[in-house]
Order: sequence, then structure tokens, then C-alpha cells
Amino acid sequence: MNQKRTIILLILLTGMLFLTACKEDKKETTAAEYVIGFSQCNSAEPWREAMNKAMQSESDKYPEYELVISDAQQSNSKQVADVENFIVQEVDVLIISPNEAKPLTAIVGKAYREGIPVIVLDRKILSDEYTVYIGANNEKIGEQAGRYAAQLLNGKGKVIEIWGLKGSTPAIERHDGFMKGVAGYPEIKVIYEQDGAWLRRKGREIMENALQRFETIDLVYAHNDPMAIGAFLAAQYAGRQEDMFFIGIDGLPGPEGGAQAVLDGQLDATFLYPTGGREAIRVADDIIDGRKVPKHITLGTERIDPSNAQKYK
Ligand code: FRU
Repeated sequence: MNQKRTIILLILLTGMLFLTACKEDKKETTAAEYVIGFSQCNSAEPWREAMNKAMQSESDKYPEYELVISDAQQSNSKQVADVENFIVQEVDVLIISPNEAKPLTAIVGKAYREGIPVIVLDRKILSDEYTVYIGANNEKIGEQAGRYAAQLLNGKGKVIEIWGLKGSTPAIERHDGFMKGVAGYPEIKVIYEQDGAWLRRKGREIMENALQRFETIDLVYAHNDPMAIGAFLAAQYAGRQEDMFFIGIDGLPGPEGGAQAVLDGQLDATFLYPTGGREAIRVADDIIDGRKVPKHITLGTERIDPSNAQKYK
């Protein structure tokens, strides 16, 4: 009997503790005057981590803002649900970096039509139902990569292209731009192209296949640095890394970043692709304060090669 009573008491106590914890949680999350909801397509990659960090540290400068970040873990349906949640919560501004364009277009449009200002960051959607788009010009980056590839190859060579997720706009634009960049060089041929989904592991796998299939590979163009580094590691494992050039995109600072990979001789070049995290919060602030914002904000880019990589690391 005594034991039973102790158990009941324990259950009651746990319940009370739980309720107090919830209350405090709530207090914490409603202290700010405005809520900015950020729907991130995947927080696991280093570039996305950098974006989250930049956003958080900018948002911390405004005590009146609370930034809530949801992580869709590369799932379109999870991201649709995340945005739906933000709509229900009536966030003051919605920021979204959509995993893929088509599956996210309708829900972003819904948020916008319901009167929530929407900032689309880095990857685009397929309509103009949003308030502002912020990002670097991916087609231009691709074109610069193509021109640099032509320069490294002296206008002739066999290229492997490792795509980002094909349903995401930066992949399409980085491809189109590259083709433009090499258009004047009929002796440059893309002999193999595969979707690496932005992932280093996939970049490596695709390159392992390519190395088996092709005796001569002169250059690897990957739509981001993790995939380019993955490809380099595959070539290194096969003892063929010296036979070809490697070009990536992102140029993230830090020991795992693209600038360091250029310094280490893994990549011949990468192109800076700023995350726009800080800018997104500043634009959210403009919107909340009622200042006029442009529909498009284009972030800068830069080629990072051995001559300037030190500066970016
Ligand atoms: C991270 C990432 C970056 C790339 C960007 C494109 O998820 O793959 O490496 O530049 O997304 O949207």
C-alpha cells in the first residue's frame, strides 16, 4: 500500500515538474515581440549550419525578435508541414530556403496570400508569390566556373559534372551557366553528369563510377564544394587526382570549407556563395519596421583560387 502511494506521489510530482517546464518554455518563446520563422531545408550540411549561425547571431542583436528555425532534413513534405506550422503560428515574417522548388511553391504562395511577408533565401520557388528573394546569381557563378574550366583546360578536355539536387534552382542555374561558359569551346565535352543531391558522399560515389568508366577525365565540375571534395577523394584513392582539375562552389571559411580545400590542393578553384543569413534578418527587420524592400537582392561572388584562398579561409 505504502509503495503504491509512493508511486502515485512520484507520478504527480513528475507531472508537476513537467508542467512547470512547459510553462517556462512558453514564457521564453513568447518574450519577444515578433517571431521570425525560418524554414531551413536541411541543417546538417556545413554551409547550412553557417547560414543558421549567421541568422541567429544577427537576430540576437534585436531583443524584440525571436528566431525559430525548423529543419526539414531534406524532405519536401516535412518542409511543407514546417511552413504550415509557421502559418498557423502566424509568424511575423517567414524566411524559407526551399529544398526543391516545385513541391514548396504552393505552400509558400499560401503563406504569402495570407499576409505573411516571405523572404525566399538561396533556392527559389516557381512563382513570384513572395516578398523578397535573397541570393547570389547562380547562373553567373556557373558561367564563371565554365570560363575558368576552359582556361585551365586550354579549351579542350573531358569533363565530369556532378549536379546538386536537380529539383533545386541553384543546380539548374549552375548547370546552365557552366554550359554558357564553355559554349565557345567545342572541344570541351561533358562526358558524364549525375545528380549528387548536394552531398559529399554522393559526389564520391559518382566519381568512383566515373573513374571506372572513363580512362581520361580532365576536369570535375561539382555544383558545391562537399561534392567536389568527395570526387577529389575518390580520384585520390584511385591515384588519379593529379590527372585532372577540380572545381567546386561555396567557398566556406573554416577547416572543412572550400577555401581550405583550395589551399590544400584538393580543389583548383571554388566560387564564393554567401549564405545570406545575416541579410535575411536585416531584410526581415526592414519589413517589420515598414521600410520598402526590393523584390530581388543579389549577393556578391568571387572566384577563390590558390592566389587568394588565404584571404577566405
Ligand atoms: C547546402 C547547399 C550548398 C549550396 C546550396 C545551394 O545545402 O548544397 O552547398 O551552395 O545548398 O542551394
